Amino acid sequence: MSNDGVNKGRRRLLIGATSAVGAVGAVGAAVPFVASWNPSAKAKAAGAPAKADISKLEPGQQMIVEWRGKPVWVVKRGEEALANLNSIDPGNMSDPNSEVPQQPDYIPKDAGRAIRSDVSVLVGICTHLGCSPSYKPEVGPQDFDANWVGGFYCPCHGSRFDLSGRVYKGSPAPTNLVIPPHKYDGDDILIIGIDQESA
Ligand code: FES
Repeated sequence: MSNDGVNKGRRRLLIGATSAVGAVGAVGAAVPFVASWNPSAKAKAAGAPAKADISKLEPGQQMIVEWRGKPVWVVKRGEEALANLNSIDPGNMSDPNSEVPQQPDYIPKDAGRAIRSDVSVLVGICTHLGCSPSYKPEVGPQDFDANWVGGFYCPCHGSRFDLSGRVYKGSPAPTNLVIPPHKYDGDDILIIGIDQESA
Protein backbone atom coordinates (compact mmCIF):
# COMPACT_ATOMS: atom_id res chain seq x y z
CA MET A 1 0.00 0.00 0.00
CA SER A 2 1.41 3.40 -0.84
CA ASN A 3 0.93 6.23 1.57
CA ASP A 4 0.59 8.53 -1.33
CA GLY A 5 -2.40 6.59 -2.60
CA VAL A 6 -4.00 6.66 0.81
CA ASN A 7 -3.47 10.39 1.18
CA LYS A 8 -4.87 11.11 -2.22
CA GLY A 9 -7.92 9.04 -1.42
CA ARG A 10 -8.32 10.76 1.93
CA ARG A 11 -8.14 14.16 0.30
CA ARG A 12 -10.72 13.18 -2.21
CA LEU A 13 -13.16 11.93 0.37
CA LEU A 14 -12.72 14.99 2.58
CA ILE A 15 -13.49 17.24 -0.34
CA GLY A 16 -16.50 15.06 -1.10
CA ALA A 17 -17.77 15.23 2.45
CA THR A 18 -17.34 19.00 2.63
CA SER A 19 -19.18 19.68 -0.58
CA ALA A 20 -21.97 17.31 0.42
CA VAL A 21 -22.63 19.29 3.59
CA GLY A 22 -22.57 22.53 1.64
CA ALA A 23 -25.04 21.33 -0.91
CA VAL A 24 -27.89 19.88 1.05
CA GLY A 25 -30.83 19.22 -1.20
CA ALA A 26 -28.90 19.99 -4.35
CA VAL A 27 -26.97 16.78 -4.80
CA GLY A 28 -29.71 15.01 -6.65
CA ALA A 29 -33.41 14.64 -6.20
CA ALA A 30 -33.29 10.88 -5.76
CA VAL A 31 -30.56 10.69 -3.17
CA PRO A 32 -29.89 13.97 -1.42
CA PHE A 33 -27.28 14.04 1.27
CA VAL A 34 -28.32 15.07 4.72
CA ALA A 35 -26.17 17.40 6.77
CA SER A 36 -24.96 15.80 9.93
CA TRP A 37 -24.04 17.01 13.35
CA ASN A 38 -20.29 17.29 13.71
CA PRO A 39 -18.31 17.49 16.93
CA SER A 40 -16.13 20.52 17.67
CA ALA A 41 -12.50 20.48 16.60
CA LYS A 42 -11.51 19.99 20.21
CA ALA A 43 -13.79 17.01 20.64
CA LYS A 44 -12.54 15.50 17.40
CA ALA A 45 -8.92 15.86 18.46
CA ALA A 46 -9.74 13.99 21.66
CA GLY A 47 -11.26 11.14 19.68
CA ALA A 48 -14.67 11.90 21.11
CA PRO A 49 -17.70 10.00 19.86
CA ALA A 50 -19.68 11.60 17.07
CA LYS A 51 -23.45 11.96 17.38
CA ALA A 52 -25.86 12.14 14.50
CA ASP A 53 -29.56 12.86 14.48
CA ILE A 54 -30.94 10.36 11.97
CA SER A 55 -34.59 11.26 12.45
CA LYS A 56 -34.79 13.00 9.07
CA LEU A 57 -32.95 10.36 7.11
CA GLU A 58 -35.32 8.93 4.51
CA PRO A 59 -35.01 5.50 2.90
CA GLY A 60 -32.28 5.64 0.27
CA GLN A 61 -30.56 8.66 1.78
CA GLN A 62 -26.97 8.70 2.93
CA MET A 63 -25.51 10.85 5.71
CA ILE A 64 -21.77 11.25 6.23
CA VAL A 65 -20.56 11.77 9.79
CA GLU A 66 -16.93 12.54 10.51
CA TRP A 67 -15.47 10.43 13.29
CA ARG A 68 -11.78 10.49 14.21
CA GLY A 69 -11.00 12.05 10.85
CA LYS A 70 -12.79 9.31 8.96
CA PRO A 71 -16.07 9.50 7.04
CA VAL A 72 -18.72 7.24 8.51
CA TRP A 73 -21.62 6.52 6.22
CA VAL A 74 -25.09 6.17 7.59
CA VAL A 75 -27.53 4.83 5.01
CA LYS A 76 -31.24 4.37 5.58
CA ARG A 77 -32.43 1.17 3.93
CA GLY A 78 -36.07 0.80 2.92
CA GLU A 79 -37.99 -2.42 2.37
CA GLU A 80 -36.98 -2.63 -1.27
CA ALA A 81 -33.30 -2.07 -0.54
CA LEU A 82 -33.40 -4.78 2.12
CA ALA A 83 -35.13 -7.19 -0.25
CA ASN A 84 -32.47 -6.50 -2.89
CA LEU A 85 -29.74 -6.97 -0.33
CA ASN A 86 -31.14 -10.30 0.75
CA SER A 87 -31.46 -11.41 -2.87
CA ILE A 88 -27.69 -11.33 -3.34
CA ASP A 89 -26.20 -14.79 -3.82
CA PRO A 90 -23.72 -15.29 -0.97
CA GLY A 91 -21.55 -17.13 -3.47
CA ASN A 92 -20.87 -13.79 -5.15
CA MET A 93 -19.36 -12.30 -2.00
CA SER A 94 -15.81 -12.75 -0.67
CA ASP A 95 -16.90 -12.94 2.98
CA PRO A 96 -20.71 -13.21 3.02
CA ASN A 97 -20.88 -14.11 6.71
CA SER A 98 -18.41 -11.48 7.92
CA GLU A 99 -15.96 -14.02 9.29
CA VAL A 100 -13.08 -11.54 9.05
CA PRO A 101 -13.43 -9.29 12.10
CA GLN A 102 -14.21 -6.01 10.38
CA GLN A 103 -17.05 -5.24 12.82
CA PRO A 104 -17.78 -5.23 16.57
CA ASP A 105 -18.96 -8.51 18.10
CA TYR A 106 -22.53 -7.28 18.60
CA ILE A 107 -23.09 -6.77 14.87
CA PRO A 108 -25.02 -9.72 13.36
CA LYS A 109 -22.99 -11.60 10.76
CA ASP A 110 -25.93 -11.83 8.37
CA ALA A 111 -26.52 -9.99 5.11
CA GLY A 112 -27.66 -6.90 7.02
CA ARG A 113 -24.56 -6.41 9.23
CA ALA A 114 -26.47 -3.92 11.37
CA ILE A 115 -27.93 -3.32 14.82
CA ARG A 116 -31.01 -1.94 13.06
CA SER A 117 -31.79 -3.56 9.74
CA ASP A 118 -33.00 -0.24 8.33
CA VAL A 119 -29.74 1.61 9.05
CA SER A 120 -26.30 0.68 7.72
CA VAL A 121 -23.29 2.25 9.49
CA LEU A 122 -19.93 1.87 7.74
CA VAL A 123 -16.51 3.48 7.70
CA GLY A 124 -16.39 4.89 4.18
CA ILE A 125 -12.84 3.90 3.33
CA CYS A 126 -12.08 1.20 0.78
CA THR A 127 -10.26 -1.78 2.27
CA HIS A 128 -8.02 -1.95 -0.80
CA LEU A 129 -5.93 1.22 -0.77
CA GLY A 130 -8.05 3.67 1.15
CA CYS A 131 -10.06 5.58 -1.46
CA SER A 132 -13.59 6.57 -0.59
CA PRO A 133 -16.13 4.54 -2.56
CA SER A 134 -19.23 6.18 -4.02
CA TYR A 135 -22.76 5.46 -2.89
CA LYS A 136 -24.61 3.88 -5.81
CA PRO A 137 -28.15 3.11 -4.68
CA GLU A 138 -29.56 2.84 -8.21
CA VAL A 139 -30.76 -0.65 -9.12
CA GLY A 140 -30.02 -1.82 -12.66
CA PRO A 141 -27.15 -2.40 -15.05
CA GLN A 142 -24.12 -0.20 -14.40
CA ASP A 143 -20.85 0.14 -16.31
CA PHE A 144 -19.15 -1.76 -13.51
CA ASP A 145 -21.82 -4.41 -12.88
CA ALA A 146 -24.61 -5.62 -15.15
CA ASN A 147 -26.65 -6.96 -12.22
CA TRP A 148 -26.28 -4.11 -9.74
CA VAL A 149 -28.77 -4.06 -6.87
CA GLY A 150 -27.40 -1.01 -5.07
CA GLY A 151 -24.32 -0.56 -2.94
CA PHE A 152 -20.98 1.21 -3.06
CA TYR A 153 -18.46 1.37 -5.88
CA CYS A 154 -14.83 2.35 -5.50
CA PRO A 155 -13.72 4.26 -8.59
CA CYS A 156 -10.01 3.86 -7.84
CA HIS A 157 -9.67 0.21 -8.83
CA GLY A 158 -13.23 -1.02 -9.16
CA SER A 159 -14.10 -2.66 -5.84
CA ARG A 160 -17.81 -3.29 -5.36
CA PHE A 161 -19.62 -3.52 -2.03
CA ASP A 162 -23.25 -4.18 -1.18
CA LEU A 163 -25.39 -1.95 1.04
CA SER A 164 -23.94 -3.71 4.09
CA GLY A 165 -20.37 -3.10 2.98
CA ARG A 166 -19.76 -6.73 2.02
CA VAL A 167 -17.24 -6.93 -0.80
CA TYR A 168 -18.07 -8.71 -4.04
CA LYS A 169 -15.76 -11.42 -5.31
CA GLY A 170 -13.44 -10.21 -8.05
CA SER A 171 -12.85 -6.87 -6.33
CA PRO A 172 -9.32 -5.87 -5.38
CA ALA A 173 -10.49 -4.99 -1.87
CA PRO A 174 -9.66 -8.01 0.32
CA THR A 175 -12.24 -7.54 3.07
CA ASN A 176 -15.64 -6.10 3.84
CA LEU A 177 -15.88 -2.45 4.88
CA VAL A 178 -15.29 -1.71 8.55
CA ILE A 179 -18.24 -1.14 10.87
CA PRO A 180 -17.29 1.31 13.63
CA PRO A 181 -18.34 0.86 17.26
CA HIS A 182 -21.73 2.50 17.66
CA LYS A 183 -24.99 2.52 19.56
CA TYR A 184 -28.36 4.25 19.50
CA ASP A 185 -29.85 6.62 22.01
CA GLY A 186 -33.56 6.17 21.40
CA ASP A 187 -34.73 6.00 17.78
CA ASP A 188 -33.20 9.23 16.57
CA ILE A 189 -29.67 9.55 17.86
CA LEU A 190 -26.78 7.48 16.58
CA ILE A 191 -23.57 7.63 18.60
CA ILE A 192 -20.43 6.55 16.75
CA GLY A 193 -17.37 5.61 18.78
CA ILE A 194 -19.13 4.00 21.74
CA ASP A 195 -19.95 0.32 21.88
CA GLN A 196 -23.45 -0.90 22.40
CA GLU A 197 -23.63 -2.56 25.82
CA SER A 198 -23.97 -6.30 25.50
CA ALA A 199 -27.21 -7.65 26.83
S1 FES B 1 -8.81 1.77 -3.24
FE1 FES B 1 -8.49 0.28 -4.77
S2 FES B 1 -10.51 -0.39 -5.20
FE2 FES B 1 -10.80 1.02 -3.64
